Amino acid sequence: MVCDKFLTFNNGVKMPALGIGTWQAPEKEVEEALNLALEAGYRHIDCAPVYLNEGVIGRVLKSWIDSGKITREELFITTKLPPPALIPEAVETVLKKSLADLQLEYVDLYLIHVPFGIKFDEAKGEFIKDDGGVVPDMTTDHVAVWKSMEAVLEKGLTKSIGVSNFNMKQIQRILDNCSVQPANLQIEHHVYLQQKDLINFCKAKGITVTAYAPLGSKGIATLNKAAGVDRQLPDLMDIEEVKSIAAAHGKTPAQILLRWIIERGLSAIPKSTNPERLKQNLNIFDFKLSAEEVEKLNALDANIRVCDFAFFKGVERHPEFPFAS
Ligand code: A2P
Repeated sequence: MVCDKFLTFNNGVKMPALGIGTWQAPEKEVEEALNLALEAGYRHIDCAPVYLNEGVIGRVLKSWIDSGKITREELFITTKLPPPALIPEAVETVLKKSLADLQLEYVDLYLIHVPFGIKFDEAKGEFIKDDGGVVPDMTTDHVAVWKSMEAVLEKGLTKSIGVSNFNMKQIQRILDNCSVQPANLQIEHHVYLQQKDLINFCKAKGITVTAYAPLGSKGIATLNKAAGVDRQLPDLMDIEEVKSIAAAHGKTPAQILLRWIIERGLSAIPKSTNPERLKQNLNIFDFKLSAEEVEKLNALDANIRVCDFAFFKGVERHPEFPFAS
């Protein structure tokens, strides 16, 4: 079953509403998962160089395209400008590296991954650190970086451009200074973090929204632990209201959480490397939530942010850190 619901960007480009996330999908798992995902009907794949798996994703995409099982035009591939490359001169080189890894001539959507630049030691291949964690690049200038995003769009290296993890003020600054408006904002969004003001703002400005961590991104617990961050993360699939709505429809809690996002006119990119769950997450187009059920889910909003970058210590010192403390 191919996802036949699309979001239309302000430039006319169409993006399948449901995609597959590849964050925290290790190389060895992602090859099998992506083959299964394409088999199941996923056409929208969300990537980023910081996920360290674009090479294997590229090999799978090439094998599908070369074998004639799929055309490039049927795919919608997103990738992102990583935090060390929030420098105008770096944008084209870094996008070309992603394209080489993904074995593509263009991506469908290129996003600035985060609003804060971080210093990187190219020779050592690692982030520069001090006692406070990674070292912010205090010179980050969104307007200058956005000009380079417009330039790679103009060169045809991407079909659309956008931002991720930006707040309203940061998006407005780009809108006030751009030639090409962002087509898409990617943010954490789920029943416990609904971000209504930001989403209404994007709607008013004609910017589509993609929900990352739509299932609560339980894998972040591992990252937090590795970084010494002790935090209890909510289990969205164990919320009573979600479970009872799931039972009423003969669906799983994950399917309810995803359907709720799609019905709000957003895109969702759940990550899974499990064959059954992959299929399950795409199988959400044969039922509808009632107005009462939507109300119940809307009422769960609790401003609980799972991906606050606590596992990326030091970034909170950047003047462009997007989240209010
Ligand atoms: P797995 O890859 O083993 O399926 P998010 O997309 O919010 O970041 O959430 C991803 C997490 O949720 C991963 O741990 C993933 O594990 C798990 N997950 C994905 N789909 C489902 C599902 N349908 N039911 C339960 N857990 C899921």
